[in-house]
Amino acid sequence: MTMRVGVAIPGRGSNLEAVLRSLGPEAPAAVVLVLSDRRDAAGLGLAKEWSIPSEVLTNPGDAETWLAPLRRYRVELLVLAGYLKLVPTKVINEYRGRILNIHPALLPAFGGKGMFGHRVHEAVLASGAQESGATVHLVDEIYDHGAVLAQARVPVLPGDTADRLAHRVLEVEHRLLPAVVLAAARAGHPVPLSESAILPS
Ligand code: GRF
Repeated sequence: MTMRVGVAIPGRGSNLEAVLRSLGPEAPAAVVLVLSDRRDAAGLGLAKEWSIPSEVLTNPGDAETWLAPLRRYRVELLVLAGYLKLVPTKVINEYRGRILNIHPALLPAFGGKGMFGHRVHEAVLASGAQESGATVHLVDEIYDHGAVLAQARVPVLPGDTADRLAHRVLEVEHRLLPAVVLAAARAGHPVPLSESAILPS
């Protein structure tokens, strides 16, 4: 059985692309729907290139705006790949334990409302932390709060800027997210993954 995956993106969609590239025709998961709250999201072009149906969430605060397409495409796993707004509670309830989010830091540090994009990496640098990374977690009603499923670490290097750190973190995001999606598809539901299973040395 193939797990039917929906991916919600706000813009660029490089994590969407990483997931698409990792899922060949024999993969136990397939992206069947791309959602975005922005009509001009570059990732919507990507969906088109890959012949994947997409929908613009014209009213993303309204649960039915999500649930109608999720039901229509029989989505079983919803992946937030950069999506920044809170998902309506009714959607979380209906998909409890089956919504993943990727965050560009090692949660629970450097997460929560307002912690997105460069702000995250600037906060990591300002803290003097020696490592950062990416986290995939289950989504609940609170920003960046649900159970952590997997993390991948990167070093913070001398002279790092937020841009350089973001780039290093993004590289591991692109390995982490597909690994968690594949593991979820194999198990039939999201499961925790060790870092060694994601980034073999
Ligand atoms: C990633 O850094 C992700 O962790 C964050 O938003 C960014 C999305 O990038 N939540 P992209 O749209 O997948 O390229």
